[in-house]
Amino acid sequence: MIKEKISDLIGRTPLLRLALPEEAGTVLLKLEQFNPTGTAKIRMARNMVDEAEEQGLLKPGGWLVESTSGNTGMGLALIAAERGYKFSAVVDNHSSPDKLRAMRAYGAELVNVGGDDGALATAERDAVAERLAVEHGAYWTAQHRNQGNPNGYKPLARELHDALGDRIDYLYGAVGTGGSLCGTGRALREFIPQLRIVGVEPSGSVVFGGEGAPYHQSGTGTPEGAEIGDLVEYDLISEGVKVGDAEAFETCRYLARRFGILVGGSAGGVIYKALERALADGPEAVIVVLVCDGGEKYLDTVFNDDWMVATGLFDAEVARRLASILR
Ligand SMILES: Cc1ncc(COP(=O)(O)O)c(C=O)c1O
Repeated sequence: MIKEKISDLIGRTPLLRLALPEEAGTVLLKLEQFNPTGTAKIRMARNMVDEAEEQGLLKPGGWLVESTSGNTGMGLALIAAERGYKFSAVVDNHSSPDKLRAMRAYGAELVNVGGDDGALATAERDAVAERLAVEHGAYWTAQHRNQGNPNGYKPLARELHDALGDRIDYLYGAVGTGGSLCGTGRALREFIPQLRIVGVEPSGSVVFGGEGAPYHQSGTGTPEGAEIGDLVEYDLISEGVKVGDAEAFETCRYLARRFGILVGGSAGGVIYKALERALADGPEAVIVVLVCDGGEKYLDTVFNDDWMVATGLFDAEVARRLASILR
């Protein structure tokens, strides 16, 4: 089928079953890296712009601004290019260089507020985005509180239900803004009331409580000091769990070497927790994992041996555990 524009390719991403032992449940990966920009976030980027246009908040030739770790920015940059808007992405040095380069390639302006230490600077980023909106009349999509973000995942829920019917016990996903997990989960639960929705955040992130600490999983979680967005719907989420960087990244590396499946760092963490569940619950359980993005954006970090050594994230015990589960 011939499409007329690149955003027509958003959605209908594939589902891939992980090969697990008979005594384990079924783990199905919803591979969102097959979207334009290589991530689920293009779904919400397009929808936030659609809703702003419908509400008269964005006029032809207008200016979009967002604080982003990269994936949302790539989505907004693509949509802005397609529809003739200016787009400014407020970023920090925690973002992967590949995501920054991609935003630039789509014509975005980058406003870097981070220090040279590469630390996450979410609060500073948000403040600058707000200032650009207030002082210069740009439209700030404000992904952490914009209902257009979760609304953008309703089609994803429909895709899952069309493919699997009511045979989904768990929906697993990373929680950053909460948009992808809560937006998909809320819509999917309308079809499947007993669906269990499990949010996964990096150890050190504070969405589900606990002590704050630095972490390397990019785009996900909420660091200490940053505001947890309104879109994290605690009453919707059945369970919130944490996963360490070593578990997340060893999972990425194992899947790539053993199966040729290249997923991003946050997805590695979610898959690790889903595997634990599949073993604990046994063969009847069907677990769907939202894979936010592919591994191509993390070749300099997660898939780089020198970086893994420098950050101390190799963990032979985790690698052994994975090898025993994913035979
Ligand atoms: C790689 C990655 N994983 C997970 C997330 C979290 O998704 P959400 O903001 O929908 O909670 C993001 C968000 O940008 C991301 O870029």
